[in-house]
Amino acid sequence: MFTEKIEADDFPKMPPKYRELLLKVLTIQCDSELGGPHLYVEKWILNAPTAEDQMLLAKTAAEEIDHHRKFVKVLRELGVDLSHLIHTRSSDRVLEIFHEPLETWADMGTFGTFIDRVGGYHLEDFSDSSYLPVARIIPRILEEEKMHIAHGIRILRQLCETEEGKAQAQQSLDKTYPRALDMFGLSGSKRSEEFKEWGIKRRTNVEARTEYMAEAREVISGLGLKEPDPLRNRRYL
Ligand SMILES: [Fe+2]
Ligand SMILES: [Fe+2]
Repeated sequence: MFTEKIEADDFPKMPPKYRELLLKVLTIQCDSELGGPHLYVEKWILNAPTAEDQMLLAKTAAEEIDHHRKFVKVLRELGVDLSHLIHTRSSDRVLEIFHEPLETWADMGTFGTFIDRVGGYHLEDFSDSSYLPVARIIPRILEEEKMHIAHGIRILRQLCETEEGKAQAQQSLDKTYPRALDMFGLSGSKRSEEFKEWGIKRRTNVEARTEYMAEAREVISGLGLKEPDPLRNRRYL
């Protein structure tokens, strides 16, 4: 177990395995921060039902792009330039969840509630990272992610006020929830253990997914929705 904390200057002296793992996970995060905006900016900002929804979505998009920019900066210090990702398309995103369009307003609600929440888990995993420059940017980003999740819940809560809206929310949840669980990665992943061993991330895929499921279950029942079968999508097992 690696228990030291390092700065950008120490990175070149770290073993190749550490360097490989850190660059890998930072690249995925840097790419994923753009996943949301590239799906909803064009489709939903000006089509959201109220002025407040439009403003909150625009604010969320601005914050995600800023999160992306912060990871670009961290990676640049390590000699990697990912600024070109701002121009790549949804179909090129590393995580598959960002390839799928957000077709309904309910999809926008489940995206904020469940996908941003996974994003929050991934970010929280860096909060005590052995790589200090990433740990430092996390608190502010997490504050903003909380607001994205809260907006998602508000969208779903409003929808669930009518039977028709509730059916739309359930349909979207059935589609989104297994994909959200998939975002934690494979359960038997060796790399996931290595991230933890090197102190880069706090939890393994299984640990994070298990905590997430307990939290998501409460949110789902609070909305009066049914938890979709988590085993329907077995790719992560
Ligand atoms: Fe973000
Ligand atoms: Fe977010």
